[in-house]
Amino acid sequence: MAVERLADGLASERVDHRFKALPPDAEGRTVGELAAERRNLFRDGFTTPVLALSAESVEHNLALMESYSAHHHLAFAPHGKTSMAPQLFDRQLAHGAWGITAAVPTHVRVYRAYGIQRIFLANEVVDAAALRWLAAELDADPDFRFICYVDSLRGIELMDAALRAAGARRPVDVVIELGAGDGARTGARTEDECRALADALAGTDTLRLVGVAGYEGEVPDATPERVLAWLRRLLALAVEFDGAGRFAGIDEIVLSAGGSAWFDAVADVFAEVPELSTPVLKLLRSGAYISHDDGHYRHLTPFNRVPEEGALQPAFRLWAQVVSRPSPGQAFLNAGKRDAAYDLDLPTAQVVRSGRDGTVRPAAGITVTGLSDQHTWIATEAAGDLEVGDWVGMGLSHPCTSFDKWQLIPLVEADGTVTDYLRTFF
Ligand SMILES: Cc1ncc(COP(=O)(O)O)c(C=O)c1O
Repeated sequence: MAVERLADGLASERVDHRFKALPPDAEGRTVGELAAERRNLFRDGFTTPVLALSAESVEHNLALMESYSAHHHLAFAPHGKTSMAPQLFDRQLAHGAWGITAAVPTHVRVYRAYGIQRIFLANEVVDAAALRWLAAELDADPDFRFICYVDSLRGIELMDAALRAAGARRPVDVVIELGAGDGARTGARTEDECRALADALAGTDTLRLVGVAGYEGEVPDATPERVLAWLRRLLALAVEFDGAGRFAGIDEIVLSAGGSAWFDAVADVFAEVPELSTPVLKLLRSGAYISHDDGHYRHLTPFNRVPEEGALQPAFRLWAQVVSRPSPGQAFLNAGKRDAAYDLDLPTAQVVRSGRDGTVRPAAGITVTGLSDQHTWIATEAAGDLEVGDWVGMGLSHPCTSFDKWQLIPLVEADGTVTDYLRTFF
């Protein structure tokens, strides 16, 4: 079944108590019916706190990374763990993405349930039950393309044993992960270890070596020079493997790296790929770009270094209401750690919407100082800065841990009209 039709099926889900902040009077409608009502986020029954995703900014970000990838001749497999939202996967694919990146087999199950045909799993998979399921999925659908990492001999042994036991008919395509340096996260630490892994893969018929990959986002004490140096090691490994005939018999060599902090460096180094024995799929995996943010990624985005290539727009705004104003210097909102990303930075107050007349003003003099489970701690400079009933619009830091707190996220136009609801699967 076509991807679009599968994700469209989400529109028939019923709106009820499972979904935070949706209007209580919408109970029992389908998501599609509610979207068709084009309600206003501020006036039409939504309860606080409510997370809004800007329709315009998401569209802008999708289009920008599509043109960026095309301009730099990169294929794009955005990391789906950021949003886990099949409706956004549809739109990423419609905006030219090659496929979607996953981190664990559970992601792959969600993606397959929504018809994703090309999946890059940026991890080793050594779980026999997951490999059994994967083998059946691959055997049942010749058009399903799946690639995952290997970074250890034991991993190869476990994968081979599980795939044999499952009676897998198609080999699983793998790329060798080169670690991003000493003390980095996963990935074989040395080229010698990578060679040993390639030798071991050549001795199995359940696994097929199709390329090399890694994640520059984990380069320790990253500087542009260190990131470029590591990416050049990755490229040299691909060239060496090709020269040694390790990719013989495949029709496409896979070379993959790239989150949302260094895709400029990835584009520069991948542009240096020489002519190899077969075409190279240069696969970028940025995920956080889709919503971008008002903290971590705002500081780290490569577009700060190459502003002439565009700028992402932060798409999230968390609206929470003042529920207590116990002293002139203190106010408390009803959003907390259950609603906002807090692993990298606290939310920041951006605007105040008057609880009296709906006028919106900058959040001058208002500082978020902490988060409890279900409270935002606010320090105010003047007693008149806020009153009970006002709504405060906050910017967030870290897309991944913003999406994961919400199961149905209103997509909202600049004037407050909610045009759709994004279902997430965490
Ligand atoms: C292996 C891997 N690839 C790609 C990404 C995507 O990076 P980002 O979240 O910066 O877009 C991540 C994110 O953690 C990752 O771990």
